[in-house]
Amino acid sequence: MKTILTGLRPTGNLHLGHYFGAGINYLKLQDDYDFYLEIADVQALTDNFTNPSKVRENVFEITKDLLAIGLNPDKVHFFIQSKIPQIAELTVFYSNLVTVARLQRNPTVKTEISQKKELFGNNGESITYGFLGYPVSQAADITAFDGEVVPVGDDQLPLLEQCREIVRKFNSIYGQTLKEPEQVLSNTTRVKGLDGNEKMGKSLGNAIYLIDDKDTISKKIMNALTDTKKIKKDDPANPDVCMVYYYHKLVNTKENIEKVCSECKKGARGCVTCKKELIEAMNKFLEPIQERRKQFTDEKVKEILENGTNIARAKSEEQLKKVKKAMKIDY
Ligand code: TRP
Repeated sequence: MKTILTGLRPTGNLHLGHYFGAGINYLKLQDDYDFYLEIADVQALTDNFTNPSKVRENVFEITKDLLAIGLNPDKVHFFIQSKIPQIAELTVFYSNLVTVARLQRNPTVKTEISQKKELFGNNGESITYGFLGYPVSQAADITAFDGEVVPVGDDQLPLLEQCREIVRKFNSIYGQTLKEPEQVLSNTTRVKGLDGNEKMGKSLGNAIYLIDDKDTISKKIMNALTDTKKIKKDDPANPDVCMVYYYHKLVNTKENIEKVCSECKKGARGCVTCKKELIEAMNKFLEPIQERRKQFTDEKVKEILENGTNIARAKSEEQLKKVKKAMKIDY
């Protein structure tokens, strides 16, 4: 079985974007790979270092969300990054193999720095060593488990490329030791926000979370963007510019979706009715996820993380040994 590794920053609960973007793929991958799933608390701290409570809380929240969608802890090794000191050691060794200029050119890092002006200054002049260096730490995440396949969204491709460069450099200096990971794009579906924004995101305030209760769902959908040209209930409208139809397509049955589409075009359905039907379909979609989530008590989740972390630690220790031997620091 090939090894797969991916990571998530524990900074918030999972929303529909995560589910349709990545979650569905993880569900398929867990059957065919030796799957390591890192809850990347150390990485989350690189831009949340002033808010450790948020990170800590979300380690458990995000693990529960992942279990709720159906990931099986007997197949997936859930582990906490900070519990694997081997990753931190590898990060130090790899940091010799990458220039500061190369990190500054990393497109993902560049975008993130420009989005975090409060933390890193208007022009990134207050960038920290830790944040700038997180791609090195991510290369350690991957290689610590001999990760062969890394499922990520397209925003992560520059980080994978950087990891591959580090691997090649390492092997060329110290001899063939590490595997170059291949990426599989997992976020093939990008889910739009309630406001019609191309991306659903926490910071955009336009997300439906897997844990949202019925009231919250109802309020959010009632405020979702519809065809702004439609004024009266029986005006014909364009479903393709309507977020309500867009979500119908994600969670409703084929039959209902067709009905919504044709009635909307003909002006035979009001937006309020359409939203109410979506609320019902959305709740029906989320119910089994929320029911499954309830089975995972804090106690149980702790146990799952502990088991996964033990397996991850053993694997990463093997990798670290190989690396130290190659670097002649295996005293
Ligand atoms: N950088 C990833 C993100 O922001 C999270 C992550 C951490 C990751 N370590 C990883 C992804 C290793 C893939 C492999 O989503």
